[in-house]
Amino acid sequence: MCVAADWRRLYWWVVLQWVVGMALSAPCAKRCDCLPKLLIANCSSRHLSSVPSGVPDNTQMLNLTGNHLKTLSRRQFSGLTQLRELDLSGNELTGIEVEAFAGLQYLLALRLSHNRLKIIPVGAFSGLPNVQFLDISQNEILVFLDDMFREMPSLQKLEASENDLVFISSRAFSGLANLQELNLDRCNLTSVPIEALSQLTGLVQLRFRRLGLTTLPNNSFRQLGRLRDLQVTHCPWLDSLAANSLFGLNLTSLTLSHCNLSAVPYSPLHHLVYLRYLDLSYNPITTILSNLLGDLLRLQELHLVGAGLLRIEPGAFRNLAFFWLLNVSENRLATLEVSAFHSVAALEVLRFDGNPLACDCRLLWVMRRCPWLRFEGRSPACVTPVQVQGRTFGDFTEAEIPRVFTCRQARILTRKPQDVRTEEGHTVLFFCAADGDPAPSIIWLNPKRSVLTGSGRIRTLANGTLEVRYAQVQDSGYYLCIASNAAGNDSISVSLRVRGFPASTRNRSGSFFLEGWSFASGQAAVNGSQPFPFDVKTLVIAVTMGFLSFLSSVAVCFIFMFFWSQSKGQIKHTATINFVPRSAATASGGGRTTMETGRFTMKLI
Ligand SMILES: *[C@@H]1O[C@H](CO)[C@@H](O)[C@H](O)[C@H]1NC(C)=O
Ligand SMILES: *[C@@H]1O[C@H](CO)[C@@H](O)[C@H](O)[C@H]1NC(C)=O
Ligand SMILES: *[C@@H]1O[C@H](CO)[C@@H](O)[C@H](O)[C@H]1NC(C)=O
Ligand SMILES: *[C@@H]1O[C@H](CO)[C@@H](O)[C@H](O)[C@H]1NC(C)=O
Ligand SMILES: *[C@@H]1O[C@H](CO)[C@@H](O)[C@H](O)[C@H]1NC(C)=O
Ligand SMILES: *[C@@H]1O[C@H](CO)[C@@H](O)[C@H](O)[C@H]1NC(C)=O
Ligand SMILES: *[C@@H]1O[C@H](CO)[C@@H](O)[C@H](O)[C@H]1NC(C)=O
Ligand SMILES: *[C@@H]1O[C@H](CO)[C@@H](O)[C@H](O)[C@H]1NC(C)=O
Ligand SMILES: *[C@@H]1O[C@H](CO)[C@@H](O)[C@H](O)[C@H]1NC(C)=O
Ligand SMILES: *[C@@H]1O[C@H](CO)[C@@H](O)[C@H](O)[C@H]1NC(C)=O
Ligand SMILES: *[C@@H]1O[C@H](CO)[C@@H](O)[C@H](O)[C@H]1NC(C)=O
Repeated sequence: MCVAADWRRLYWWVVLQWVVGMALSAPCAKRCDCLPKLLIANCSSRHLSSVPSGVPDNTQMLNLTGNHLKTLSRRQFSGLTQLRELDLSGNELTGIEVEAFAGLQYLLALRLSHNRLKIIPVGAFSGLPNVQFLDISQNEILVFLDDMFREMPSLQKLEASENDLVFISSRAFSGLANLQELNLDRCNLTSVPIEALSQLTGLVQLRFRRLGLTTLPNNSFRQLGRLRDLQVTHCPWLDSLAANSLFGLNLTSLTLSHCNLSAVPYSPLHHLVYLRYLDLSYNPITTILSNLLGDLLRLQELHLVGAGLLRIEPGAFRNLAFFWLLNVSENRLATLEVSAFHSVAALEVLRFDGNPLACDCRLLWVMRRCPWLRFEGRSPACVTPVQVQGRTFGDFTEAEIPRVFTCRQARILTRKPQDVRTEEGHTVLFFCAADGDPAPSIIWLNPKRSVLTGSGRIRTLANGTLEVRYAQVQDSGYYLCIASNAAGNDSISVSLRVRGFPASTRNRSGSFFLEGWSFASGQAAVNGSQPFPFDVKTLVIAVTMGFLSFLSSVAVCFIFMFFWSQSKGQIKHTATINFVPRSAATASGGGRTTMETGRFTMKLI
């Protein structure tokens, strides 16, 4: 009995296997798994070296990944008219014949990534009117030829990263008016394929990553008016953007990260008034200047991580009323003043951990806004002053805050009067040392109350000292030193009187040459950088010598005229004058008078 039961069980087992086998894979190609209900043929990783025959005609998804296919011949898949998705990635394809995919009129997605394609002939993709997604990434394609994608009018997304692309022909993308997303990552392109891109009028997202770009020239993306998201990342040689490089774009999101930009590209950005997201992380940008991002009215997020940022100037985010996220972690910022923002009420997320923060009055606003601000789990920590070093912002108790987050007003230490009288040509130093917490900055104003810079004849030295070289009469006056920090400012006034050489102080209308000199040196004083033009003594001597030679020629002339006049004869001392008065009333004096006619003639000798 036992043996009979075993036999029966074995019989049923075999029948079941056959039924299941028929149901699952009966009409399927050898070595593939077909799931008839889902219309999937799974032929992945089956050591196939050619496309298997016998795949059911109604299959909608054919997966041939991870095999050893080497070429695709003409009309390779012609029987599979219902195919929606074809995956050929991870094979060893080196060639695709023209019209290889002809007949796949319903195909929506074609994946060819991770093969060894070096060139794709024009016409390879013909007969694919409905393909929306094409993946040719991770191949060895060197060039995109003209009209290569022409017969894929429905293409919406093209994934072309990680090829050896060195050239994209100017009409390579022609016919792709519906393309919305293009990804060119890790190619060997060294310039933007401006002509080719200008065909992609429907493009919405463009990703350029790991390219050898060195610059973005003017009008790089003209015609791409629909582009909303541009990502240019990991371009270590990209160090400049031409002023009009982004002209014609209307972006909402821009990423320019991991490049070599040394400044925020203010002028290329300024027309992007719909920009909401800006990422400039990992560029060597040290400062965000004030008032230069004000045109980006709708900006909501700025990421500038790992950039070596030293300073965000007051007014940097002025006008940005919707600015709610600032991500400046891993920089070298000592502080972030509230005056940088248009309004901190809009700010919700602030990442500025990983900065050498000085916990003083300038960061008090952050503590006050803590209940509304999110640090996204990375609370910033104090680095100075030493007594709170290492403490995170969350650590402080309410009572401690006013005690820790304080500043000491700037105070000038060198208060004794500095009144200097000197002669023209000397060098004068004025001292202005100050202390305070945070360390104050020192500026000097000249007698006309404009700020003196660190260069020129009259300049401010790094230690706060004012240096006047080759002092000139015009430099005389009161100079003002202002030391200021977050807690306030302090100032002192010093005076300088420069005595000129006697000749140079005369100011008579006759001495035109001195006025001329005075004019020239005045120019030099205005342009501090101009060195003193010429020596006064030399000028006076030169002019005097010129004048002496002029006088001697005049004297010679006079002597000559004297001798010439002596050689002439006697001179007459008589003259004859005739005149005819017209009015009768004046007719008096000697001679004939005619009252009727009112006319007379008189002669005097
Ligand atoms: C397809 O077949 C491979 C190899 O047998 C297997 O690893 C994979 O899970 C299958 N995929 C599906 C969707 O069944
Ligand atoms: C094809 O099969 C591989 C392995 O099973 C899988 O990783 C891949 O996602 C499949 N392709 C598609 C388009 O489903
Ligand atoms: C492309 O760049 C990669 C990496 O820099 C390099 O290995 C490859 O040889 C380059 N290809 C060409 C065609 O220049
Ligand atoms: C880009 O255009 C601007 C404005 O037209 C011009 O001043 C600048 O010189 C151009 N730059 C280059 C590299 O052509
Ligand atoms: C980045 O720019 C700096 C100067 O601005 C230059 O010294 C450096 O070599 C550049 N880096 C690269 C990778 O080109
Ligand atoms: C720019 O984009 C914004 C939003 O994406 C849109 O509202 C606006 O009309 C666009 N402007 C132009 C000139 O295309
Ligand atoms: C800030 O930037 C870093 C680095 O790019 C990123 O990991 C992090 O998610 C960003 N934080 C926020 C809040 O966006
Ligand atoms: C500041 O520097 C200048 C030149 O480097 C020096 O002559 C001057 O003494 C310095 N002033 C002070 C107050 O140290
Ligand atoms: C100095 O402080 C006063 C008020 O405290 C302020 O009005 C003035 O603008 C400040 N000057 C500078 C140069 O910071
Ligand atoms: C020189 O004379 C002119 C008028 O002739 C006068 O305006 C000017 O102030 C004088 N300059 C000096 C330094 O006396
Ligand atoms: C004065 O300096 C300005 C810029 O600093 C320059 O354009 C101008 O040519 C200079 N004038 C003279 C006379 O050197």
